[in-house]
Order: sequence, then C-alpha cells, then structure tokens
Amino acid sequence: MTGSLSLTRAARLIGVTRAELQRRIKHGEMVSHDGMIPVSELLACYPDAQLEDDAETRRIAQIKERAFGKRVFERALPEPEVLAARITELGKTLATSQAQVERFKELLGRLWDKLDGTPGLSAAELKEWLEQEVDLATEPGFINPLAVKDNVLRVMTAQVTILPSRHDFMVEGHDSLLEAAMRAGIPLSYGCSGGNCGLCKAKVVSGEVRKTRNHDFIIPEAEKAAGYVLLCSNTAVSDLVIEAPVADSVQDIPFQQIEAHVKAIGHINDDILLLHLQTPRTKRLRFLAGQGVTLKLGQTFSALQAIASCPCDDRNLLFHIHRQPGNLFSDYAFDKLRTHDAVEIEGPQGEFILHERSPRPLFFFAFDCGFAPIKSLIEHALSLEVEDIYLHWIGSSRQHIYLPNIAHAWDDALDDFHYQEHVAGFDLRNLGGKREEALIKLLQDIQIADAAMLQGDIYIAGPDEAVTVAERFFLEFGLPKTRVSVSRVK
Ligand code: FES
Repeated sequence: MTGSLSLTRAARLIGVTRAELQRRIKHGEMVSHDGMIPVSELLACYPDAQLEDDAETRRIAQIKERAFGKRVFERALPEPEVLAARITELGKTLATSQAQVERFKELLGRLWDKLDGTPGLSAAELKEWLEQEVDLATEPGFINPLAVKDNVLRVMTAQVTILPSRHDFMVEGHDSLLEAAMRAGIPLSYGCSGGNCGLCKAKVVSGEVRKTRNHDFIIPEAEKAAGYVLLCSNTAVSDLVIEAPVADSVQDIPFQQIEAHVKAIGHINDDILLLHLQTPRTKRLRFLAGQGVTLKLGQTFSALQAIASCPCDDRNLLFHIHRQPGNLFSDYAFDKLRTHDAVEIEGPQGEFILHERSPRPLFFFAFDCGFAPIKSLIEHALSLEVEDIYLHWIGSSRQHIYLPNIAHAWDDALDDFHYQEHVAGFDLRNLGGKREEALIKLLQDIQIADAAMLQGDIYIAGPDEAVTVAERFFLEFGLPKTRVSVSRVK
C-alpha cells in the first residue's frame, strides 16, 4: 500500500463518499497533495477505520443496485483470468512486504552484533542507533492498518486515473474500461462500444490491461507498442493511468443518427406515456445527462424529447411523452406506436447539463414532464456520488407527478437527498393572471422554507410558461445566469 491514496480509493477504504472527503479537505480538516491523501492523514481523521466493517460501502452498493438493477449481481465477480492476474499483482506486493520482514531479521542480527561488539554502549547511544536503523528498514512500504483492506479491494477492483482531466474511477467485475467509466458518469470518447470504430482508443501510461474480447478495429503496431488499446475491449488488471479525452461540453459530443426500436410502452395515465427505446448493440447514443433528441415516429411525425435516463446506459433510452391534444406526434405516440416499431433518433441537443465541477448543492425544480431531464441529471449526479441534492416536483395536478416512487426511493436511500412534491392545482402550461401569481407564491414558500437554496445551483425543467416564471423568480434574487439552468420540454 502506498503512502498516499486517491480520493476514490480512500473513500472506498474508509467507507465514506468522495464528497465527504472533499468536504473535509475544503474545510482544512484533511490535507491532500495533487488530489492524493496521505494514509497518515486518513488514519488521523478516521482512527477507527480499520475496525469498521464495510457497511457504508455496502450501503452505496445497494443504492447503485436500486438505480441500475440486477446487473450489479452479474458484475459481482471479474473474469477468472482477470481475477488471477490481479491476485498475481498482489503477490508482488506481498513479496515486497516479505522483503521488508527480511530486512528486520537482518537488523535483529546486526543488533546482536552491536550489543556483543560494543562494550559500554549506553542506552541513549543504542536508542539513537536503533532509531536510524528502524527508519531505514521501514522505508519504503510501512504496513499500516488499512493495508489488508486495501489488498482485498484491489482483488475486486482496480482504479483508473485519466489524464489530463484527472478523473478517476473503479473497474469492477466484468466491466470493460469504457463501461466502468460510463457507470462512474465519466463521458469518455467512444462510438460503437463493440471494437469496430476505434473512437475509444486510449493510451495506457502505466499499469496492466487485459483484452476481454477480440475487436475488428486494427490498432497500428507502432501505436500498440506505445500502449494504445481500445477501452471498450479491455479491462484493468492493475491500477491504471490512461490518457484519454473526456467530454466536458456539449460541443464534444458528435451529432448522431440511429434507428432504434420500441422496447416497451407504458401508459402511466391518460396524459403520460413512458417510452423505452433500445438502440442496436453496435450503435448506441452518446449524450450528456439532461440532453434531448429528435424522435421521428412513423417517418412523418417528429419532436424534440428530453431523455429521461442516464448516459451510463446508452443503449436503453427512456422518454416521458406528455399528451397534447391535436399534436400529431403525441397522438401517434399514444394511439399508434407499438412495441418493436422503428424510431429514428437524431441528436443529442441541448445545453441543460450538470456543472460537474461546482461545489454547490443542487436544487432541481421539475414541473410536470420536466421530471424527464431532471431524472437524467439526478441519476448522473448519483453516479458521480454528488451529495446535497434537493428535488421539488411541482405538478399541475397530482396525476402530473407521475413517478413519485422513483423520487421517494432516492429520498429513502440517500441521507443527503431531499424530495418534496407540490400540487399547483392549475395547468402549468397556461399561466395567465392569477395562476402566475399563485405559482410565484408557491416558489416563495419553497424558497423561504429553505433559504440555502440561493447558495446552490438551480436546475429548472418543464413547460415553457412555468420555466419562464421560475427562471425569472430566481434571477430576481441576483443569482447569476450561470447558476440557473433551464430546460423547456414539450
Ligand atoms: S467504441 Fe468503437 S471501438 Fe471502442
């Protein structure tokens, strides 16, 4: 175990979130150097760390399991070959420790020689000599109480650091490097996810990878020799440092056209339809959480729709379609669209994305179907282990708060997630006169109940009319436009 740990690994070892460690660093309770935390600092802040069980780690795993379903179980163990290779790596670490034990044995021998060969040696002289020798023998590789736990984690997971962005993530079970990065909410460059396009090519700077599938894309020999691999076709055997570009703006995501199929349609009620589209295995949609795409139904009817799912599952895309009488797209979706039908997807579009580097708490306001892009953003924020999330879902009627169980599940499972729902009692798409005043009054009540809201980042999504009122409400408090993000959904 090294003298310093990355934030991700330290959080796993102690059983807390990265956000908690970041908060301690920010408040000066813990020191970090270049994003690494000295083990001594970690133990000073968490003296009982070695005695704790991994309840917190399991708690986080349970949350992820709820969010991403049964795949967690399928990913529980790596391939036997990968497991064997990782254990081999740990064998090397063990060998280093054994060498250190040998150094102490030698020191013991020299101590006897010194005692025998130095008559009149005072206790103070002996103490000084011993201190120097012990310093030499314990350098490097002091075995600290976290080492054993760290070794176990290393068998199950490997850590990957991406340069130059310095994102890091853990690779678990059967995951390819690309899958693990996406699960951690890191938008690496990729295309097919299947070894054909080469867009996920990245350079391994240090550490060992193992190919998990053969790929058609051919990497030139010179690049192979320089350490280039396909992230979709390799996993990590040891901790890795890789060089790879990470998208941090919508401009980094290419425009795509994909023919998907309807996997499922669910009518929540007369007004809301849940649409689940699935892309071909080799042509998935790359997007940032909160963005939308144009859906073309039946070759004729098209509309921009917010994606209601997380980019971590780029093959299964969810949409919440709102019935709009007289709108041909919504009429077709509600009355004619069937399972297995083809749906053309174009996009992604939109700038309603998470400001990932912001340290501020996140306040989400979903009006009616505005829950769709908000859900995508929240799932992404949870992948990033962001804490301090507040969700207010404001519905025209109770029927318009159509998936409260999802929001309640987050609220129940996460200590730092807070959910409230509010029924406006009038159509949020039609805000003439007194209705607008009533909405402002509702927002005032919410804001007065939580004054800290004005210190956070505000995300608002829903029908144009309600979003315009809410955006103006927050801007009038003097919040800069960069801290009030809006999405107008159809
Ligand atoms: S994403 Fe296409 S080759 Fe990896």
